[in-house]
Amino acid sequence: MKATYFGHGSFLLKIAGKSFLIDPFISPNQLAKDIDIDSIETDYILLTHGHEDHVADVESIAKRTKAVVIANFEIANWFEKKGVTNNIKMNIGGVFRTDTFAIKMVTAAHSSSMPDSSYGGLAAGFIIAYLEDDVDKVIYFAGDTGLHKDMELIQDEFGFVDFAFLPIGDVFTMGIDDAVEAAYMVNADSVIPMHYDTFESIKVDMEVAKEEFEEFRFEVFSIGEEKELI
Ligand code: NI
Ligand code: MN
Repeated sequence: MKATYFGHGSFLLKIAGKSFLIDPFISPNQLAKDIDIDSIETDYILLTHGHEDHVADVESIAKRTKAVVIANFEIANWFEKKGVTNNIKMNIGGVFRTDTFAIKMVTAAHSSSMPDSSYGGLAAGFIIAYLEDDVDKVIYFAGDTGLHKDMELIQDEFGFVDFAFLPIGDVFTMGIDDAVEAAYMVNADSVIPMHYDTFESIKVDMEVAKEEFEEFRFEVFSIGEEKELI
C-alpha cells in the first residue's frame, strides 16, 4: 500500500489498483498549505463523520474528480444536496464489496454533525480488506474515536490489522495511552498516528509517542509525504 498524508486525519491510500482519499481537510489547514489540492486524484472519498475538520474539501474534490463518496446515509445525503451525487451510502456494520477490496463501516465513539450543524449520523471507522500479492491485508482507519471495547470485535473478525490509523491528539479523540491500548486490542502490526498538532489543544510530543508505541511499527508521516507501507 502507498499512503500519502495530507495532515490532520486525512490520507490518500493506494491499494488494489484504486485510490481512497479519507477525510479531506486540507485547504483550511495551515500546516497543509503546501499541498496542491487540485493535483489530488482519487477514485473514492471515504468519510468517517461530518465534522468540518474531516469534510471541508469533499465538495470541491468530489466534483472535480467524480470520485465516489463513501459515507454514512446522513452525510451522503447532505452532500447530494450540494450536487455530489456519486455516492455509496453505508451504516455501521455494513460492508461494501468489489472484486478487489471490501470496506466495512465500524463503530467509533465520537459525535457527528455537519458543518451547518445538521445531523451527521453516527461517527464511524473503516476496515479496508484487500489482497496484495495474494496475501490478505487489513487496514483499520479509526477516524475520530475514543477507546472502546468494540475494537476487540475487529481482532475477533479479522485476527490482525496490518495498518492501524489511530488518532493520538487527545481532547477530541484518544490520546497516546489509549491509542496504544487500541493498537493491542485490534492486534496491529503498523500504527500510523493522526489527528494531532493541527490545533494548539492537540499538540503531542512525538518523542513520547514513539516510546509509547515501541512494541509496534510506528510510521510517522510528515505532511505531504508519501510512503510505501508493507
Ligand atoms: Ni470529529
Ligand atoms: Mn476531528
